[in-house]
Amino acid sequence: MDNIETLKRELTEAVANAADEAALEAVRVAALGKKGRISQLMKGLGQMSPEERKEQGPVLNALKNDIADAIAARAHALHDAALAARLATEKIDITLPVRPEPAGSIHPVTQVIDEVVAIFADMDFSVAVGPDIETDFYNFTALNIPPEHPARQMHDTFYFHEKADGERPVLRTHTSPVQIRSMQAQGAPLRVIAPGRTYRCDSDMTHTPMFHQIEGLVIDKDIHMGHLKGCLDAFCRAFFEVDTVRMRFRPSHFPFTEPSAEMDIGCNRSGDEISIGDGDDWLEILGCGMVHPVVLRHGGIDPEIYQGFAFGIGIDRLAMLKYGIPDLRDFFESDLRWLRHYGFSALDIPSLPGGLSR
Ligand code: PHE
Repeated sequence: MDNIETLKRELTEAVANAADEAALEAVRVAALGKKGRISQLMKGLGQMSPEERKEQGPVLNALKNDIADAIAARAHALHDAALAARLATEKIDITLPVRPEPAGSIHPVTQVIDEVVAIFADMDFSVAVGPDIETDFYNFTALNIPPEHPARQMHDTFYFHEKADGERPVLRTHTSPVQIRSMQAQGAPLRVIAPGRTYRCDSDMTHTPMFHQIEGLVIDKDIHMGHLKGCLDAFCRAFFEVDTVRMRFRPSHFPFTEPSAEMDIGCNRSGDEISIGDGDDWLEILGCGMVHPVVLRHGGIDPEIYQGFAFGIGIDRLAMLKYGIPDLRDFFESDLRWLRHYGFSALDIPSLPGGLSR
C-alpha cells in the first residue's frame, strides 16, 4: 500500500510539473502506457491470490482513474494556457481610429459627366472620344458648314497657324466632330455619346474659353423626332432626379441637323436657387435635331437607308443648374475651398441603381 501511495504522489507531481502537452504525454506513457508503471502493477494482479486481488484490484483501479483524471485536467489547463498565449499574440487593436477620408474630391464637371454617361449607358449608348485639336474638315465641313458658311463666325474659333499643306487645325468648337468620326469608325446602326472639352473665344459669367459638352448620336432605320424627344425626356428625368420634367422644343438652326431644335426645361427662378421640373420659367439646356443627310454621307452612311438624331448638351451648365453653382469661371480657378465645397466623394460612383448624386 505504501509504495502505491508513493507512486501516486510521484505521478501526481510529474503530471503537475509537465510544462507542455508533449511533457504531459511522456508522463502518461510512463504511467498508463502498455509498459507504464500502473499498467505493470495491473498485470501483476493476475498472479495474486483471490483475496489479495480483491484487496489490490480496487486500489490499483482507483490509482489508475485518479492519474488519468489528473492527466486530463492538466491537458485541459495546458490547452487553455496555450490558447490564451496565442490570443495574446494575435490581438487586434480595434480602438485604432478609422482611416482618414481620402483627400481630394471629384470636380462637379467630372461628376456630371459620370452621371450623364451612367444614364445613357443604361439606354445602350457607348462612349466615344475624339481629339481636342481638330481638322477644319471634321469640325466644320463634314458637319455641313462649308468654308464661307456664316455659322463659322458664330463659333468664335481658336485657329492654329496654317500648316505647310494649307491645313489650319482648330481647337474643336463643339463635340459634333465626334459624330463624323464615330460614323466612319463604326458605321450604322450607331448609338454613342461623346463627352469632352470644347473651346470658343468667349468669357463671361456663363462662358469660359474652355468648356464641356456631351454629344449624343443615334443612327438606325426608321428613326424619327419622337425617338429624340423620348430619349431626352428620359435623360432629363433621370439627371434631375424628378418624376416629370416640362420640356419645350423651340425651332432652331444648326447646319448639321434638319429639322433643328433647342430644348428648354421648365424651372422656377423665384428665390435664390433655380429649381427644375416645375415653375413658369424656361431654361435652355441643349441643341438637337435630325442628322442632316449631308452629314450622314460624310460619315459614310447612306441617308436613303438610315436616319438619326443628334444632340449636344452643355455639361458645365448642367452642373451649375443641378448643384446651384452661380459662376462658371470658378469651375476652372482650382480654388481648393471651392473644390472642397462643390466636390464629390471619389467613392460615390454615380450609377442608376446606386443613385446618381448623394
Ligand atoms: N454642336 C451644337 C452646339 O455646339 C449642338 C448640337 C449638337 C446641335 C448636335 C444639334 C445636334 O451648339
